[in-house]
Amino acid sequence: MRKGIVLAVVLVVLRVQTCIAQINRASFPKGFVFGTASSAYQYEGAVKEDGRGQTVWDEFAHSFGKVLDFSNADIAVNQYHLFDEDIKLMKDMGMDAYRFSIAWSRIFPNGTGEINQAGVDHYNNLINALLANGIEPYVTLYHWDLPQALEDRYNGWLHPQIIKDFALYVETCFEKFGDRVKHWITFNEPHTFTIQGYDVGLQAPGRCSILLHIFCRGGNSAIEPYIIAHNVLLSHATVVDIYRRKYKPKQHGSVGVSFDVIWFEPATNSTVDIEAAQRAQDFQLGWFIEPLIFGEYPSSMITRVGSRLPRFTKAESALLKGSLDFIGINHYTTFYAKPNTSNIIGVLLNDSIADSGAITLPFRDGTPIGDRANSIWLYIVPHGIRSLMNYIKQKYGNPPVIITENGMDDANSPLISLKDALKDEKRIKYHNDYLESLLASIKDDGCNVKGYFVWSLLDNWEWAAGFSSRFGLYFVDYGDKLKRYPKDSVKWFKNFLTSA
Ligand SMILES: *[C@@H]1O[C@H](CO)[C@@H](O)[C@H](O)[C@H]1NC(C)=O
Ligand SMILES: *[C@@H]1O[C@H](CO)[C@@H](O)[C@H](O)[C@H]1NC(C)=O
Ligand SMILES: *[C@@H]1O[C@H](CO)[C@@H](O)[C@H](O)[C@H]1NC(C)=O
Ligand SMILES: *[C@@H]1O[C@H](CO)[C@@H](O)[C@H](O)[C@H]1NC(C)=O
Repeated sequence: MRKGIVLAVVLVVLRVQTCIAQINRASFPKGFVFGTASSAYQYEGAVKEDGRGQTVWDEFAHSFGKVLDFSNADIAVNQYHLFDEDIKLMKDMGMDAYRFSIAWSRIFPNGTGEINQAGVDHYNNLINALLANGIEPYVTLYHWDLPQALEDRYNGWLHPQIIKDFALYVETCFEKFGDRVKHWITFNEPHTFTIQGYDVGLQAPGRCSILLHIFCRGGNSAIEPYIIAHNVLLSHATVVDIYRRKYKPKQHGSVGVSFDVIWFEPATNSTVDIEAAQRAQDFQLGWFIEPLIFGEYPSSMITRVGSRLPRFTKAESALLKGSLDFIGINHYTTFYAKPNTSNIIGVLLNDSIADSGAITLPFRDGTPIGDRANSIWLYIVPHGIRSLMNYIKQKYGNPPVIITENGMDDANSPLISLKDALKDEKRIKYHNDYLESLLASIKDDGCNVKGYFVWSLLDNWEWAAGFSSRFGLYFVDYGDKLKRYPKDSVKWFKNFLTSA
């Protein structure tokens, strides 16, 4: 009898503890925003409709051998036509916000010049439909799809004329959509498109000089990445200045950047490894964020890159400094860092990665840092997001941070049945564990985190990986009219967001 009571009490205590351990929306501060993220080129399709101009990614995706599964994004997941249906999916889950990007070449098919009204109409319809369903739009202005006309005219981001043309396009967006859009992201992952497009050449426009130009016809991996970054940073600062002077007083919105950040952990606690991890972070996040916070590149870059690093004038530095209202962070994974021990990398690559003097890998002594998702770079390390939030807090004065992307992918395998493809326990655990770690950074460490966006609402076209990688909460059936099916993670998020 007594034993029975004791057992019952123990069971009740255990039950209460599991309830407490279960996080949900109510565990996060009031007003914390949950959403999903996407981008125009990966989702829209309809590449030849309503006057849209060609982009560097149309050109790249249609070049033989650039995309793993030889696919392109001409149709993608057809969100251009299916956005009403997709908004219902977001609403049903209880999401507060949707991050999408505007395709520059729908607004200015030629990069600049005449506005294409059909493009403006499309985004007005999308924004209005989101708001009518209680979903807040978070709008990315540049998610890698540069109008091809500007690449042809002056090599796009390599030429300072891009700053003026970007400003015209962005100001047009502020003017047309800013009465309803209150969160703007100028650039998605400037570091990734700089490195992938101009250092290793694996993404549009595919420029590089590594390994004696085996991969790329044009490019200089020791010089061009620094020019691209410079023009991107000045473009950001220019449009923020325009926003603050002409639009913010009546529109009251805020502007940030979505930085791609791998957390780098020193391979050991030796001083050289700790210094290598810091240099790797300087050459990733520091390169792009420090000019916008402090008005200058990290000192390790100034020392190591020397005369190949363009410098800012006093006036430019003043324009850059303080030009972020919030910091968007796209975070997926954590790598180990150690110094490069041979100069072979320097000679073979002669690029910005060699300049950092750091090697970053998801392995240490042959052991992976965590369980792997489908992508070869995506190892699951939940504690990394907490370390990263603390790093940003300490180094940059605890600015407001929004996690603008976090997620994991499964392989697109023809051997898996639809029924099995919807069972995504691994994704549920990924989001649960990263959210727990993020919550600890807020509650226990005082980090100023304001929101969390899942990459991605739907399976979609993953750049050079094509359709081979599935990041969606919803499964898209590429063989049957792009029908959307909820994976188990949809139920998990719905419960997380609405049970509180
Ligand atoms: C595109 O811009 C170029 C350069 O300004 C101009 O020569 C060309 O006529 C424009 N094309 C269209 C279709 O507007
Ligand atoms: C480095 O030091 C920290 C803090 O003392 C410790 O938690 C961590 O395990 C150490 N890392 C290695 C690789 O020894
Ligand atoms: C690491 O690479 C840099 C850049 O190529 C080179 O200058 C440096 O000597 C290398 N470090 C070592 C320890 O070899
Ligand atoms: C690396 O590239 C720079 C810029 O093109 C060049 O000046 C330098 O000689 C190159 N170094 C090596 C080791 O090839």
